[in-house]
Amino acid sequence: MKAEILKMLRKNDGYISGQQICEYFGVSRTAVWKAINQLKEEGYVVEAIRNKGYRILSSPDITTKEELESQINTSWAGRTIYYYAELDSTNLEAKRLGEKGAPHGTLAVADMQTAGRGRRGRGWSSPSGSSIYMTILLRPDLEPNRAPMMTLIMAYSVACAVQEQTGLEAKIKWPNDIVIHGHKICGILTEMSTEIDYIHYVIIGVGINVNIQEFPEEIRETATSISLELGQAVKRSSLLACVMSHFEKNYQVFMETQDLSKLREKYNQLLVNYGREVKVLGETVSYHAIALGINDKGELQVKKEDGTEASILSGEVSVRGIYGYV
Ligand code: BTN
Repeated sequence: MKAEILKMLRKNDGYISGQQICEYFGVSRTAVWKAINQLKEEGYVVEAIRNKGYRILSSPDITTKEELESQINTSWAGRTIYYYAELDSTNLEAKRLGEKGAPHGTLAVADMQTAGRGRRGRGWSSPSGSSIYMTILLRPDLEPNRAPMMTLIMAYSVACAVQEQTGLEAKIKWPNDIVIHGHKICGILTEMSTEIDYIHYVIIGVGINVNIQEFPEEIRETATSISLELGQAVKRSSLLACVMSHFEKNYQVFMETQDLSKLREKYNQLLVNYGREVKVLGETVSYHAIALGINDKGELQVKKEDGTEASILSGEVSVRGIYGYV
């Protein structure tokens, strides 16, 4: 009920009377009063005026289940939410939920992670109170070899949401880092459980540096946060809800063709490497090339120095700008 009251207060810019809330939910005045008090304890500023009712004045920067439920407006992406103040890793939790049969679109969110995981076996620094750590569980009817494309869809969705919410020029560093002014604000880690030709589930983990002000030594050179670039704090719940809306929309487009043909051009427009010289670092080979953008499969097309073209698969190689991270 707390989430529903929050939704009602959010919808109504003006006052909403205790009586209206009671009638809507069929509960007592005391029950409403208790729920409002709980919201106040969590940091919501709710004004109560006799004969007028309640009005929400401000909300805290939190990502609790109630807060997210009152913000997310999708039909399936992030409609079932598991929130944890502290968790090992939302990717690990999403896998546990996946094994237990949680539905398509289930979202695990944590305020802090004690064992945040990054790509290539690295960790992901996950302090509390300032970033988004979330993982969405998907059960697509898709060939397993097409699953990595969904990571690119998430990257594109995060970039769109950041632009929409902040006006900042968020770009994509292929395949799935989001950068602002050349520094990383978001990383994505996709994992899956499959049979040879069947996907049990895919989980896409997203870490976004939203309001964090300082980073550990190892990533200080490459990382930044949205608030550092914008000069002001951003509400994590609004941004997260916006990511879910974009992701749901883009995922539907992707599933129509089961490839990136309809999203490729838009993705390439946001590609920070587009038309630039990159260093392709494979296990055995490494060379300089010009990035031409992704193809329908999500592979990065590059033009080598001898004029020949190659397509590179994410996970196979890493791509660096010639002067540094991008
Ligand atoms: C990267 O190395 O760039 C990927 C980082 C992915 C981090 C996110 S935070 C939420 C989710 N849970 C994890 O343990 N990792 C991902």
